[in-house]
Amino acid sequence: MAPRAALLLAALALPPLLLAAAASSDPGPAATGVFQVRRKFPAGGGNITALRAHDGRRHGRLLAAADVPLGGLGLPTDTGLYFTEIKLGTPPKRYYVQVDTGSDILWVNCISCERCPRKSGLGFDLTLYDPKASSSGSTVSCEQGFCLAAHGGKLPGCSASVPCEYRVMYGDGSSTTGFFVTDSLQFDQVTGDGQTQRGNGSVTFGCGAQQGGDLGTSNQALDGIIGFGQANTSMLSQLAAAGKVKKVFAHCLDTIKGGGIFAIGNVVQPKVKTTPLVADMPHYNVNLKSIDVGGTTLQLPAHVFETGEKKGTIIDSGTTLTYLPELVFKEVMLAVFNKHQDITFHNVQDFLCFQYSGSVDDGFPTITFHFEDDLALHVYPHEYFFANGNDVYCVGFQNGGSQSKDGKDIVLMGDLVLSNKLVVYDLENQVIGWTDYNCSSSIKVKDDMTGATHTVNSHDIESSGWRFQWHNSLVLLLVILVCSYLIC
Ligand SMILES: *[C@@H]1O[C@H](CO)[C@@H](O)[C@H](O)[C@H]1NC(C)=O
Ligand SMILES: *[C@@H]1O[C@H](CO)[C@@H](O)[C@H](O)[C@H]1NC(C)=O
Ligand SMILES: *[C@@H]1O[C@H](CO)[C@@H](O)[C@H](O)[C@H]1NC(C)=O
Ligand SMILES: *[C@@H]1O[C@H](CO)[C@@H](O)[C@H](O)[C@H]1NC(C)=O
Repeated sequence: MAPRAALLLAALALPPLLLAAAASSDPGPAATGVFQVRRKFPAGGGNITALRAHDGRRHGRLLAAADVPLGGLGLPTDTGLYFTEIKLGTPPKRYYVQVDTGSDILWVNCISCERCPRKSGLGFDLTLYDPKASSSGSTVSCEQGFCLAAHGGKLPGCSASVPCEYRVMYGDGSSTTGFFVTDSLQFDQVTGDGQTQRGNGSVTFGCGAQQGGDLGTSNQALDGIIGFGQANTSMLSQLAAAGKVKKVFAHCLDTIKGGGIFAIGNVVQPKVKTTPLVADMPHYNVNLKSIDVGGTTLQLPAHVFETGEKKGTIIDSGTTLTYLPELVFKEVMLAVFNKHQDITFHNVQDFLCFQYSGSVDDGFPTITFHFEDDLALHVYPHEYFFANGNDVYCVGFQNGGSQSKDGKDIVLMGDLVLSNKLVVYDLENQVIGWTDYNCSSSIKVKDDMTGATHTVNSHDIESSGWRFQWHNSLVLLLVILVCSYLIC
């Protein structure tokens, strides 16, 4: 768990150019960490949105759907991240990558990397990608279209023999640098109910050559990160441009059993209501209209609901918690604890925690966020509180105002509110939607080629030894500081 999670969370919402400032305000190595929240920004990424348009003609079989098996558990007291496995190269090798809807490229650690982790505290053996060991791999030169598009033009000193470099910066100051390669990616193509068949496509991804910060040593290390952002540089955009998949994906993150469902393709069951994405934003921004707690609408000033560069609402599954502007946070907390004036709060690593011996679902109200086009997001007490030991609960909502100056007016909705729901990102129609769902069950996706619908089941990628880690540390590091929740 990253000790500086709070800071990096706030940094995530910022346009990339602001990131440097946010990162440098990092208070330094804090004693403890609670949330594994990794934010990735291509450096200078203000214009990393362009990619030369691929040949629009579709060739080969038009794939309707892909099944991306998930592992991990997004609870703050657990791994706090979700990951999946992919296969790259010929012969194919397996890589475990964190699933992240907030970033735009796929990258894995590479053979030339000295400080890259070889083993993961999550219980996996890690694999370094070796372009030379793959008969289908090739290095991307800085003159190639992908590179020009990714960097918004030719890099200084670029010639045909110079590899296309990239740099991804984490909000906490960690970074990974490398160069782009193109190779074959294999994925599970849905071909029948609960059935998949190997599908493949050529994708350009980052080969991580150097790690900065503590990336190389994290005991939750994975092989890399797969970005499901909207930009043309993402794996999804590349496969879609090649006519292999639709630019539609869905996830259902299971905080009860771990893992869940992650699928590419049109979901036909369950049906979800949707809300439009705000156009031309680097993240999945939506229009929040109002918030109610226990059925009573909070009286909030209009600016809370405006959209813009440093304001608005972002849906981001790569964030574990949920951040609210200070004013909103206070109003929500007042309403939530309205009937519990007697509760005393402890501060546990900057979380508001309290003792409660009943069922939180019976004792506390449901919070509902209302979005444009009448889409509601219900957050139940057992979701916005997380249990931290016997009869101790902590508030998962965070006061964005105390996180970072630039992210303070942003509503950032992470796994805390997105779990146990099927969330559909339909980038072709520029809408996002969700519905409460049992993520241990299955969904149905449509094969556009044949018109048939197929079942996609939930998965929990097996790993050993990762479940116990954070639960213990949070309890051990309990620093009790009695305070009121408004002044902690
Ligand atoms: C892309 O960004 C870089 C650095 O941020 C800048 O030098 C370059 O001019 C930008 N290119 C375009 C096309 O905006
Ligand atoms: C992304 O790709 C699409 C289709 O290939 C193209 O129409 C669009 O202009 C590209 N976007 C950017 C920002 O380059
Ligand atoms: C990719 O798929 C094509 C068509 O199904 C197949 O011919 C080719 O061998 C596959 N490549 C790899 C690396 O699996
Ligand atoms: C969720 O679905 C699974 C698999 O169908 C089932 O075993 C489980 O009981 C369901 N959970 C709930 C709460 O309905």
